Amino acid sequence: MTIADLYAIPSPASWDVPQDFQTCFNWEFAPERTRLLGLYERGKTMQWNANDRIDWSQELDPENPQQLPEESLPVSGAPFYQRMSPAEKAQIRRNYQSWSVSQFLQGEQGALICAAKIVQQVPDMDSKFYAATQTMDEARHVEVYKRLLQKFGVAYPMTKPLKELLDQVLRDTRWDMTYLGMQVVIEGLALAAFARIRDYAQNPLAAAVNAYVMEDEARHVACGRLALRDYYPQLTQAERDEREEFLVEACKLMRERFDAIELWQHLDVPIQEAVEYLLVSGAQQKFRSNLFSRIVPTVKDIGLWGERVRRGYEQLGVLHFAEVDVQALQEDDQRIAREIDARRRHVDQTIAAAQ
Ligand SMILES: [Fe+2]
Ligand SMILES: [Fe+2]
Repeated sequence: MTIADLYAIPSPASWDVPQDFQTCFNWEFAPERTRLLGLYERGKTMQWNANDRIDWSQELDPENPQQLPEESLPVSGAPFYQRMSPAEKAQIRRNYQSWSVSQFLQGEQGALICAAKIVQQVPDMDSKFYAATQTMDEARHVEVYKRLLQKFGVAYPMTKPLKELLDQVLRDTRWDMTYLGMQVVIEGLALAAFARIRDYAQNPLAAAVNAYVMEDEARHVACGRLALRDYYPQLTQAERDEREEFLVEACKLMRERFDAIELWQHLDVPIQEAVEYLLVSGAQQKFRSNLFSRIVPTVKDIGLWGERVRRGYEQLGVLHFAEVDVQALQEDDQRIAREIDARRRHVDQTIAAAQ
């Protein structure tokens, strides 16, 4: 089954985004920045093959594919959901989880294309080297989410807000805007969403896929931080203001992405009731604001922390995340992936010893 066969909502076969940017050759092959080159070295040594590292014979649970707690379904507390039969609830669960993994898959293709664009556009050689390893990582992420999604038996196209942001980021001729939109905003959000599945899914396949992708993403965000932290002090205040404005607008747009309106419409739930519930539910508000826990500290770290951004984030109720220690989170992401590897080795050794 290809993904095209699984779309529950019609999707065009492809999407062409016109491009008008300059590709930059660097004849000095410079500069050599130790920290960025260190990330490039790690990017090379930490490549992995999804065929070997993941046991794809594991299946999903038909009633609750990733075996997630009921609270992770945004409408689980809504009266219309509670009135449903167990079979209807299972149908909602399966489709909501598939919708969210579909967004991961669609977003990863965006990341693949943005990483390749950065290779062409970014002026310095260390960033080109690093972005080349990232391009390979993103291809692998598309591969693993595609394989995971095929096991759901149903898929969804990219949501409108995500498409709008990607379109804007790809059409922009300035390389740092691709970094900001993709590595800071979209990947920052994705990391928070992946972490939720990695940490709460009882299904070992779903947990492993997200943990391994996060191990790579931790490097991507680190690279974005290093590249932008060096670049932004060189810009004028007006240029930095423009980026701050973009960051606030992009975050507002991405918050809408999690409403999943097209999914509720497709599933024929009482749409008005669903939307009202999502708007007033405290748990849902908290869920949405937690998705910004990785973006906000990165924005502060790269020096786009003027009045405009702080006011915007305050309105979104996410300003307190500025205190999050991103470095510690990244170290955790790498440690958890290694722990999953160790568990897999232990299982393989036990099976081998029994034979
Ligand atoms: Fe990725
Ligand atoms: Fe990435």
